[in-house]
Amino acid sequence: MFKKQYCLVDNNTLASEALAAYFYAFSSEEQLSEALTHRPDGVGCFVLGSGSNVVFASDMDTLVLHNVIQGIDVVDQVDGSVWVKVAGGVLWHSLVLWSIKKGYSGLENLSLIPGTVGAAPIQNIGAYGVELCDVFESLDAIEIKTGRRISLNKGQCDFAYRHSVFKTPAYAGQWVVVSVTLKLCSLKEGVGVEFKTEYGEIEAELARRNIAQLTPELMSNVIVSIRQRKLPDPNVLPNVGSFFKNPIVSTRECRRIKNKFPDLVNYSLSEDKCKLAAGWMIDQLGWKGREDGGAKVHDQQALVLTNVGGGGKAVVDLSKKIQADVKDAFGVFLEPEPLIFI
Ligand code: EPU
Repeated sequence: MFKKQYCLVDNNTLASEALAAYFYAFSSEEQLSEALTHRPDGVGCFVLGSGSNVVFASDMDTLVLHNVIQGIDVVDQVDGSVWVKVAGGVLWHSLVLWSIKKGYSGLENLSLIPGTVGAAPIQNIGAYGVELCDVFESLDAIEIKTGRRISLNKGQCDFAYRHSVFKTPAYAGQWVVVSVTLKLCSLKEGVGVEFKTEYGEIEAELARRNIAQLTPELMSNVIVSIRQRKLPDPNVLPNVGSFFKNPIVSTRECRRIKNKFPDLVNYSLSEDKCKLAAGWMIDQLGWKGREDGGAKVHDQQALVLTNVGGGGKAVVDLSKKIQADVKDAFGVFLEPEPLIFI
């Protein structure tokens, strides 16, 4: 039942060879409950989806619970809206493909994001102008300590940029998300869909392909080709996507940096808040393509660090050097995006 001293290399996209003291893959809530009841005494638990946003820089002295619960069900449909309940172990991109095939829209901009559906709300995954919270309705989760089940709606999840209540001390590491319910648009009902195309790269790709009438499938294809151009395939170059969040600073701070670096890429969030492009800052400092101790900054996207032999530890060491350099030059702290186990 529990595997002991289990090598996690095939369970994390950074291909770290860390060992888990115990490992258990559950494909139903009953199996999860069984594992929680019979877990070895005094051992902590860590919930793992497909390991695309986690860095194992050392062995894990915990029970790693791997969520592989499957299932996608339409639970309600009213006018042009459709509610879809998806099990936590479903791979995110397979859900996107399923939705497109069914004629549902809402997920196309989130195409090709690695990871599982259960992990998606934890950091409120997002790309190309859309975040999970835009289509999120509710989730069901099981408390590790007690086995208690709760449902949380959108407000209770407290979503923000790469953030949810599951990142706060009161919730972090204490819940297993077993299912997520999303509200999508059913094109069959004749509802007009508004596609999010205002991203420069999307507009350029649409123009290049000369697309007159967009569909979710076309939009998804566009996103997939943009992502494939700059983000490395973890099966070829082990990575966890963006290694740092784009920092949010005050408009005053942004102005200060811009005085020194007039080309700074930034997006205004409100009158007094600005988001800075971390990839641009790292790139400016000459890190793009640089290799250091078995880790490498990706050639096409400086925000992505890859494991080229040194494992999770080398990637973390490289990330610290980048953080120090960015702090020095721009006065900004880059917060890591993935969960790091040192
Ligand atoms: N840039 C550079 N050099 C680089 C990288 C970026 O100059 O090496 C510039 C780009 O030219 C652009 C700006 O920085 O002007 C932003 O770059 P990009 O559009 O590639 O997006 P990003 O901010 O680096 C974020 C997400 C990605 C998501 C894309 C598209 C975060 C931390 N990352 O990246 O998400 O796919 O936007 O929406 O918010 C992930 O979270 O793992 C991830 C890949």
